[in-house]
Amino acid sequence: MQRQFEEGTTLDRFIFETTKTHADATGQFATLLRQVGLASRLVSARVNRAGLAGMLGATGEKNVQGELVQKLDIYANDAFKHALEHPGVCAAIVSEEDEGPTLPPERFHSGRYVFCMDPLDGSSNIDVNATIGTIFAIFRRRSPEGTPATPEDILQPGTEVMAAGYVVYGSGTVLVLAVDGQVNGFTLDPVVGEFFLSHPDIRLAPSAKTYSVNEGYSYSWDPRLRAHIDGLKRSGDGWRARYIGSLVADFHRNLIKGGVFLYPATQENPEGKLRLLYEAFPLAFVVEAAGGAASNGSQRILDVAPSSLHARTPLFIGNAEDVADIEAALR
Ligand code: AHG
Ligand code: MN
Ligand code: MN
Repeated sequence: MQRQFEEGTTLDRFIFETTKTHADATGQFATLLRQVGLASRLVSARVNRAGLAGMLGATGEKNVQGELVQKLDIYANDAFKHALEHPGVCAAIVSEEDEGPTLPPERFHSGRYVFCMDPLDGSSNIDVNATIGTIFAIFRRRSPEGTPATPEDILQPGTEVMAAGYVVYGSGTVLVLAVDGQVNGFTLDPVVGEFFLSHPDIRLAPSAKTYSVNEGYSYSWDPRLRAHIDGLKRSGDGWRARYIGSLVADFHRNLIKGGVFLYPATQENPEGKLRLLYEAFPLAFVVEAAGGAASNGSQRILDVAPSSLHARTPLFIGNAEDVADIEAALR
């Protein structure tokens, strides 16, 4: 059921009002969302003090993707895992930073939800104080509650995402939540320590005139994509480019102002760079709830079934007509 919330509504009240109408509500989903709010506030506080709190820079380790791990990656990963494993709401937590899923220790209840996250997206922007974020998707487990999670709980297709969202740690901290077919954005008041509804019922226009892509790799794209982007530029329609290099920040700008984000396949990376479970699925779920679209070039992202925890996918996401035009160009 969709309902309108007024600007200024606290995240806490939004969660209460939203989850009480769920017929099978046990309180676990509300607790899960509240804990996401808590972990976001912890990470936000740390991000704001990054230069002072010894949080800049790399740890010297590489993660499962072979990428250099930043201190904030670890802090964010731990903050979300700690917030989510003890209240008995998660059966498993999947993270970009961990090779396998994290199951709650036996002393805690194994709850109803599987939480998939990129705890810190845009790591390369940490040291330059550019916007970074957290991205997450929530699935309902398939096996009975109270038992250890199974592979079928963890590797579900995108059609099974039940809620998703992200947090941007930028000039302000904003939590965007897609649940019950509606997208709402909440801005953190850092003094009060609470998120307030600032972007109610976000909707995307059918088309926009902004594209976001790393054009440094265009030599290596499918030539049809290169021709398509070239066509936009020459169209005289006023297309412009915006690219921060943090998916979550590029996506957020496009969600608010309109725009299409592309991370295509390249000859070097035929699967693209971005990860299906905790980057593409959550943002695809958000964009569709806002009236937009997400594709891998030939298929709707949410129709894809992940082959592994850290599977990658090309991603074209944003205003529906602009995504459809890219699909048509690649056909
Ligand atoms: P992460 O920091 O979680 O590893 O993700 C980085 C991703 C994504 O945020 C961004 O869109 C992309 O890397 C940028 O990649 P390029 O530098 O290849 O453009
Ligand atoms: Mn990422
Ligand atoms: Mn990351």
